[in-house]
Amino acid sequence: MDYHTLLARLGEGSAHPGGFQATKRFIRQIGFPRGTKVLEAGCGTGRTACYLASLGCKVTAIDRNEHMIQKAVHRAKQNGARVRFLQADAASMPFPDETFDVIFTESVTAFTQGNSAIREYLRVLKPKGVLYDRELAFAKPLTTAQKKELQSFYGLHHLRTVPAWLRLMRKSGFHQCSASRFSKLKKTANDNDPFRVIDHELFAKPDAVAMMMNNERLMSKYSRVMGSVVITARKT
Ligand SMILES: C[S@@+](CC[C@H](N)C(=O)[O-])C[C@H]1O[C@@H](n2cnc3c(N)ncnc32)[C@H](O)[C@@H]1O
Repeated sequence: MDYHTLLARLGEGSAHPGGFQATKRFIRQIGFPRGTKVLEAGCGTGRTACYLASLGCKVTAIDRNEHMIQKAVHRAKQNGARVRFLQADAASMPFPDETFDVIFTESVTAFTQGNSAIREYLRVLKPKGVLYDRELAFAKPLTTAQKKELQSFYGLHHLRTVPAWLRLMRKSGFHQCSASRFSKLKKTANDNDPFRVIDHELFAKPDAVAMMMNNERLMSKYSRVMGSVVITARKT
């Protein structure tokens, strides 16, 4: 089982730094007009996508992992949200050029190769469209051994500092790229996701339990350098 399937089977609703409260605060701060065409890339179990739909956005949401999409569809049915969910790869999206006003993504780009997903974000955004990307970031560059340890467990492709994220966005063709302050990972309070579906049989599987423990170990080991940033970037 890979890390994302573990998250999907645990039914994680906000598998990103800051959790759902940070997401809601940020979305309220932006204030999307009703009818904004939003793509959520790497939507996981669909919590953010359903929230955006509840605010009147027209939401399409993709994820590569079939378990995530199944849970996202279930969530939307349960809470009556209108979201178009598709199983698709952010690095090769099934949408025409210039389709969306906004791309929203949380803790996904770091798992994609090179700038393949970022180029796709740029392609499917309308002119003057905006990317909001909450990403895992590091306070300082990691050693090769540290990178290897995190890459092999999480399947990460990018272990970047904030300036390195900004450089990648600019190099990939985005303009007016800015970053929030780096914030360290904090344990997020249980924010009571009423539509979470946990596959409880997971807790009887030694390999899954070992993965959960390894995740805790790595989070604690890297807690002093690991954090997050929100990048805002525009298409011309
Ligand atoms: C850490 S989880 C975050 C999920 C969700 N954004 C959230 O905050 O709860 C990363 C998600 O990105 C998805 N993902 C990773 N690489 C992807 C890709 N190339 N295309 C689409 N989804 C991808 C995974 O399946 C997983 O659901």
